[in-house]
Amino acid sequence: MSAILVTGSAGLVGSDAVRFFAAQGLDVVGIDNDMRAQFFGQSASNMPNIARLTAEVERYIHHDLDIRDRAGVHRVLKRYGPSLRCVIHAAAQPSHDWAAGEPETDFSVNATGTLVLLEAVRTHCPDAVVIHVSTNKVYGDRPNRLPMEALASRYEVASEHRYRARGIDEDMLIDHCMHSLFGVSKVAADMMVQEYGRYFGLQTTSLRCGCITGPHHAGAQLHGFLSYLVQCAVLERPYTVFGYEGKQVRDNLHSSDLARAFWAVFQNPGSGRVYNMGGGREASVSIREAVAICERLTGRPFPVSYSGAQRKGDHIWWITDTARFEADHPDWFRSYDRERLLTELVQTWTELAPRMLG
Ligand SMILES: NC(=O)c1ccc[n+]([C@@H]2O[C@H](COP(=O)([O-])OP(=O)(O)OC[C@H]3O[C@@H](n4cnc5c(N)ncnc54)[C@H](O)[C@@H]3O)[C@@H](O)[C@H]2O)c1
Repeated sequence: MSAILVTGSAGLVGSDAVRFFAAQGLDVVGIDNDMRAQFFGQSASNMPNIARLTAEVERYIHHDLDIRDRAGVHRVLKRYGPSLRCVIHAAAQPSHDWAAGEPETDFSVNATGTLVLLEAVRTHCPDAVVIHVSTNKVYGDRPNRLPMEALASRYEVASEHRYRARGIDEDMLIDHCMHSLFGVSKVAADMMVQEYGRYFGLQTTSLRCGCITGPHHAGAQLHGFLSYLVQCAVLERPYTVFGYEGKQVRDNLHSSDLARAFWAVFQNPGSGRVYNMGGGREASVSIREAVAICERLTGRPFPVSYSGAQRKGDHIWWITDTARFEADHPDWFRSYDRERLLTELVQTWTELAPRMLG
């Protein structure tokens, strides 16, 4: 048997990875305890995703397990042993706002949970390719020190700056800036993943992602910006924009494009590698621009309120430079720009609307 393990298998990233790898003919073992419902409330629960995966993906085996449960994680990895050829680690507390309320829970899930998993891999399947879903929040608010231009609908890094054309690369420093508690727990995980590659020789890669989205995202106010914004636009719910007059820019990567990036790493792994990963300029959007596109796609006004309060550590401008990843994985490409992403999200939430409003 050739299998892969996906932690956080019920989440946006994990569930698309499950489907993609199962479609390539691999058995997929999933770990997820639906802790997302504990973080963001029942409306953000990923239980429906677990039910769908179990019903629809023949090669899927689910384990309802906390990633921090050392004995449980070792039991699962021991059971599958060297047949596990790849481990995709997507289980996490994913919100920087949430982390401030429960720093110990955040750190234990994101940092300690990652360490538990790495040790279990080293013990039971040391030849597996390990892919960790990291975040651009490891760079803290350092991107906010870039020289910015305020345009009519968005911020842009200054036109003469080297990041303007392709975005931010991996050479950005991670020190001397504010990360948020979440950023720190993810830095710890990211560095530990790199270290298990460099120190122990495991085949580890950390992908520092910008915003990720897709139809399987249970968008919540504290996590899943584009999915939540579209949800509010379609369901005609109030939406508040925090800070920067809504001109802050994020790039957005479709979770299926990320699943193909995992596959690319699986085909060409290395040890202790780290890459920025994201949607790039074509899939970048400011909140103002996203609101305007939603109004056009729904054919309705989407009145939003603006709060002067900024979220701590929030990025003003982030576009990902994926040149280093593409150089090592030349077959990988993105298939979604902002128009396609938003059209798909509006369609998804329009289909879900009768159930949610009913
Ligand atoms: N969505 C984004 O915009 C984004 C951006 C950058 C990085 N990331 C990273 O991608 C990864 C996946 O994020 P996502 O968007 O799929 O989030 P998600 O919340 O949809 O998925 C995470 C899954 O992990 C599970 N989980 C949480 N704690 C657990 C625990 N202790 N034990 C077992 N399972 C647990 C949750 O129940 C959830 O199903 C995270 O590491 C996140 O930091 C996400």
